[in-house]
Amino acid sequence: MNDPRDRLIVALDVPSVAEAEALVERIGDAATFYKIGYRLAYSGGLALVPRLAARGLKVFLDLKLHDIGNTVEEGVRALSDLGATYLTVHAYPQTMRAAMRGRAGGLKVLAVTVLTSYDEADAREAGYALSVPELVARRAAQGIEAGIDGIVCSAVEAVSVRGIVGADTLIVTPGIRPAGAALGDQKRVMTPREARIAGIDQVVVGRPITGAGDPASVAAAIVAEMR
Ligand code: C5P
Repeated sequence: MNDPRDRLIVALDVPSVAEAEALVERIGDAATFYKIGYRLAYSGGLALVPRLAARGLKVFLDLKLHDIGNTVEEGVRALSDLGATYLTVHAYPQTMRAAMRGRAGGLKVLAVTVLTSYDEADAREAGYALSVPELVARRAAQGIEAGIDGIVCSAVEAVSVRGIVGADTLIVTPGIRPAGAALGDQKRVMTPREARIAGIDQVVVGRPITGAGDPASVAAAIVAEMR
């Protein structure tokens, strides 16, 4: 990673494109990478991707795609033209293979192993016989077989996932909180420093930055801590 600021991905979890653009302005040079999720994407946020890219900023499209192979492939092909750097899909083998067929123009595909809101009871309810750690490990290995570029997993899973995917696959994790920050609904958190020690390439941080009086200084402090 050439620019240390790329280690931080700021989640633009705001309701509108106007608010997202205002936040990006306030953060200024302190951050280089932004994540657009469901809410913003479905509120016109896809149009923001080329605008941010034109300013030299990187965009993580957190759309967590999963559908029949042809639909995923064509969807990823269409999204490739927007100028995003990362796109997420769910880590189902067929979905991951389809995404890799469709991606173009430097877009990297990240696979979400198991949603961090799932515990053992949720996995059983959804029909899985494997435990959550087993499912994470299996999907990480299947991601490597499919050739994906990176894995999104919880910080606490990162060390075991690294053992499966090796050094060349990106590991990106949410659930990161600077020491002393409010947890919100995140339960198992790490600090930015602990994340780097755990071998995590990039962290996704939302509310500690978006809700701060001075988001630029919080972002800068996270980058400094990761260095
Ligand atoms: O505000 P906070 O720092 O908790 O935001 C984390 C971001 O990462 C949110 O956009 C959330 O949707 C996303 N995320 C997550 N856990 C996952 C996957 C994505 O918190 N397993």
